Amino acid sequence: MTWQSLLVLGVLGSLPLASSVPAEILARATSAAPTRSHPTSQPHTSFIGTPTTTGALTASSVGSGIPTGSVAPAATSYPSDGKLHSAQPAPFVPAGGVGTNGTIPVYNAKSDFDYESLALALYQEWVELDLFQDALRRFSEADFMAAGLTTDDRELIAFMAQQEVGHATMLSNILGSSAPQQCSYVYPYTSVQEFIDFAQKVTRAGEAGANGFLAHLDSREAAILLTQTLTTESRQQLIFRQFEGLFPMTEWFEVGIPQSWAWTLLAPLISSCPKNQTRLAWQNFPGLRILNQPSPSSASNGNNATGLNQTTLPGVNSARIPRVSGVAASRANATSAAGAQCSPAVATRRPSPLSFPGRQVALQWEAPGKPVGPNNSYITTTQARGAKYVVWVSQLNVTYTPLRVNGNGNATTGNTTNGNATNGNLTSGFTTQPDLETFQGDPAVNGTLFIAITDDDPFLTPFNLSLINTHVVAGPALYQAG
Ligand SMILES: *[C@@H]1O[C@H](CO)[C@@H](O)[C@H](O)[C@H]1NC(C)=O
Ligand SMILES: *[C@@H]1O[C@H](CO)[C@@H](O)[C@H](O)[C@H]1NC(C)=O
Ligand SMILES: *[C@@H]1O[C@H](CO)[C@@H](O)[C@H](O)[C@H]1NC(C)=O
Ligand SMILES: *[C@@H]1O[C@H](CO)[C@@H](O)[C@H](O)[C@H]1NC(C)=O
Ligand SMILES: *[C@@H]1O[C@H](CO)[C@@H](O)[C@H](O)[C@H]1NC(C)=O
Ligand SMILES: *[C@@H]1O[C@H](CO)[C@@H](O)[C@H](O)[C@H]1NC(C)=O
Ligand SMILES: *[C@@H]1O[C@H](CO)[C@@H](O)[C@H](O)[C@H]1NC(C)=O
Ligand SMILES: *[C@@H]1O[C@H](CO)[C@@H](O)[C@H](O)[C@H]1NC(C)=O
Ligand SMILES: *[C@@H]1O[C@H](CO)[C@@H](O)[C@H](O)[C@H]1NC(C)=O
Ligand SMILES: *[C@@H]1O[C@H](CO)[C@@H](O)[C@H](O)[C@H]1NC(C)=O
Ligand SMILES: *[C@@H]1O[C@H](CO)[C@@H](O)[C@H](O)[C@H]1NC(C)=O
Ligand SMILES: *[C@@H]1O[C@H](CO)[C@@H](O)[C@H](O)[C@H]1NC(C)=O
Repeated sequence: MTWQSLLVLGVLGSLPLASSVPAEILARATSAAPTRSHPTSQPHTSFIGTPTTTGALTASSVGSGIPTGSVAPAATSYPSDGKLHSAQPAPFVPAGGVGTNGTIPVYNAKSDFDYESLALALYQEWVELDLFQDALRRFSEADFMAAGLTTDDRELIAFMAQQEVGHATMLSNILGSSAPQQCSYVYPYTSVQEFIDFAQKVTRAGEAGANGFLAHLDSREAAILLTQTLTTESRQQLIFRQFEGLFPMTEWFEVGIPQSWAWTLLAPLISSCPKNQTRLAWQNFPGLRILNQPSPSSASNGNNATGLNQTTLPGVNSARIPRVSGVAASRANATSAAGAQCSPAVATRRPSPLSFPGRQVALQWEAPGKPVGPNNSYITTTQARGAKYVVWVSQLNVTYTPLRVNGNGNATTGNTTNGNATNGNLTSGFTTQPDLETFQGDPAVNGTLFIAITDDDPFLTPFNLSLINTHVVAGPALYQAG
């Protein structure tokens, strides 16, 4: 176990040699551990067929819910006055901490929570690996050039794919032989610009998905390696923002979301997985579409129009960018005051922000019961009643705005069935972008953040946000505030 765990870290070469070490391990000691093999080219077509199994992974016994607790008695007992209150275990070592007593770390999953969270992160890494390679295959150097991106920029995307190989390997080593394998995927983009916006949002979802569970892992060993992964992923997200001419970072804190939110966003991108694929326990919520999603490539940003429907799919809600009036067109206008500045750059200030407090946001969401994800084998569900609020999850904040349901949907009775044959199982409504700061001078709603439709407005904070899940009617959706 010790050798295995050190192999995971790839630090074997720095160990003192011991006579008990098998020769083949010594021989390998000077080179790093191999990466996990994966298919190099997968089809990118939708799944047509019948799933062999349906629904999330469940244990033999499932409880009825998480009760609302109170503050733990010892939570506030430490004086926090800058003095030392316990004997020091060693010189220069303050008492306390977890995993600080000299125990040899073991880099594995230590609970179902750990396994399911890390397996979800691995599903995400596999998508990103395939996504970056797919875009480089699908679009030529000339296509990238037309979007203002160079061969060096392509090289950077290729390097990001290599990073994903490393991340997938690390997580696979932690999980062991049942670690989820790479699958086949479907992406909604049809141009370099649409890919960049899609990748910017997918990497944000991955980053936030891991941010949400890291501190809850039983395995602190896994947590430290995942932190070192996540910080790399965050840089990828920032670079995609730069590629699409957005200000690289508009927030003071990067948001975290629950695992079921991350899985809801990720699953629709997966068309099929191999026969013996390890399944996940997380929930898939009904899809949520932002009908007037602010588009980074549009010169008419900050627009107050509704019903534009310029997104490619619910959930990720990446931009559908018309060919003529896309990035290239606005770049031609970059010097004109009227044009939005959306060429790739280290930092781009937008004279006219993508969104603003008070902006009306038009939403449309699906009824539960839709097959999604690998082999259409997961089903969207909700435990919530009527749609009443939109929750905004951004930076350190969890805040709600009232939702107005259109048509026959009745938020009071919990009947969100539109009853309009044209719209089928879709319900629509609207809300207003809130005005709040995380700290003074830091507008909370900016950058790429998350919204969802809820039936209630419970007070929640980053560490217990997953308690919102029983209140989610639909979503999350990625909202492009800036
Ligand atoms: C060290 O801490 C671990 C938990 O982090 C605990 O299981 C173990 O018993 C501790 N060892 C000693 C010698 O106190
Ligand atoms: C699925 O089968 C392949 C080939 O036999 C094996 O390498 C892999 O470990 C299996 N994966 C899972 C998740 O069981
Ligand atoms: C999913 O579909 C693919 C392609 O049809 C098939 O090869 C695979 O065995 C299916 N996976 C499962 C878990 O049924
Ligand atoms: C949209 O409406 C808001 C509030 O009325 C206003 O401040 C803003 O200037 C408008 N934006 C555009 C682009 O018309
Ligand atoms: C938005 O576009 C999607 C996909 O084309 C479509 O399914 C949906 O009905 C449209 N919604 C509206 C309100 O036009
Ligand atoms: C440039 O901006 C002007 C005025 O806003 C607009 O009429 C024109 O179509 C734009 N050019 C391109 C190539 O988009
Ligand atoms: C978001 O941040 C950018 C960069 O600091 C700023 O220009 C923009 O006005 C902000 N938008 C909102 C909605 O606060
Ligand atoms: C929704 O249902 C409640 C309770 O039956 C009723 O009072 C209210 O008028 C309904 N609202 C709409 C918009 O139909
Ligand atoms: C919900 O509203 C629709 C449209 O008005 C109606 O057809 C349906 O019977 C209602 N369902 C319930 C459970 O009240
Ligand atoms: C149904 O929805 C469509 C599209 O939103 C709209 O054009 C139509 O008027 C609606 N019909 C009724 C009866 O509400
Ligand atoms: C509505 O959803 C149900 C359950 O998923 C499905 O059977 C039905 O075909 C859907 N209806 C429409 C109009 O999409
Ligand atoms: C936003 O988050 C900050 C920091 O936690 C908090 O002080 C503030 O009250 C929050 N604002 C709202 C409206 O929830």
